[in-house]
Amino acid sequence: MANVIRAIEALADVIIANKEKLTELDAAIGDADHGINMARGFEAVKAKLKTAQPDDIGAVLKLVGMTLISTVGGASGPLYGTAFLRAAAIAQGKTTVDGPMAGQMLAAAITGIKERGKAVQGEKTMLDALEPAYNAFQYGLSMNKTMAECLELAVNAAQDGVEYTKTIIATKGRASYLGERSLGHQDAGATSSYLILAALTQLAKKQSQAGEP
Ligand SMILES: Nc1ncnc2c1ncn2[C@@H]1O[C@H](COP(=O)(O)OP(=O)(O)O)[C@@H](O)[C@H]1O
Ligand SMILES: [Mg+2]
Repeated sequence: MANVIRAIEALADVIIANKEKLTELDAAIGDADHGINMARGFEAVKAKLKTAQPDDIGAVLKLVGMTLISTVGGASGPLYGTAFLRAAAIAQGKTTVDGPMAGQMLAAAITGIKERGKAVQGEKTMLDALEPAYNAFQYGLSMNKTMAECLELAVNAAQDGVEYTKTIIATKGRASYLGERSLGHQDAGATSSYLILAALTQLAKKQSQAGEP
């Protein structure tokens, strides 16, 4: 439980630290608010976690999802909010997370994003980071790797996915209004998804070095 709250705080801090970078990316092919939106949402999440006393991981993730939906706005608020709510449903009543459960949470989050945003991989969105990350995570599990190792594989795949967004035309979200002019630019939402996975990976590595589960 404490680990999960620490993980949420860590990913909130990474998003807040990258507020300007994410906003700059969105300025090139969107409306220059992705970092501002996300930082606002995760500041609110941090504030709520200070006083909330969630009973299980599901309750923590539900708080995150509800807070993002009500504070982030834009396309990404409902999408990330839905992702956390779907992961929360998997974690209901649970106070620890193992590798297979983390994989299930990621799968549920991605399904939620796809249903809500009606997008698939290859449309220059957060899914271009998240789908390859999930596949790499599952590959790691199938090779009996630790959670930290699986996350490391996932974050590397997400980074490749972010690079890939530069090479494709946006067909979903505001950037799709630009058509071919979206080529050459990195997607902001794929970048925030990568940053979230990177924060979780850093923390998992630190915890495994410290001998924590
Ligand atoms: N339909 C969609 N499905 C998945 N992700 C999407 C979709 N539309 C937009 N996005 C993601 O949201 C990001 C933009 O978020 P943000 O700037 O906060 O919202 P808005 O586009 O409303 O200003 C994009 O970079 C993209 O990754
Ligand atoms: Mg925007």
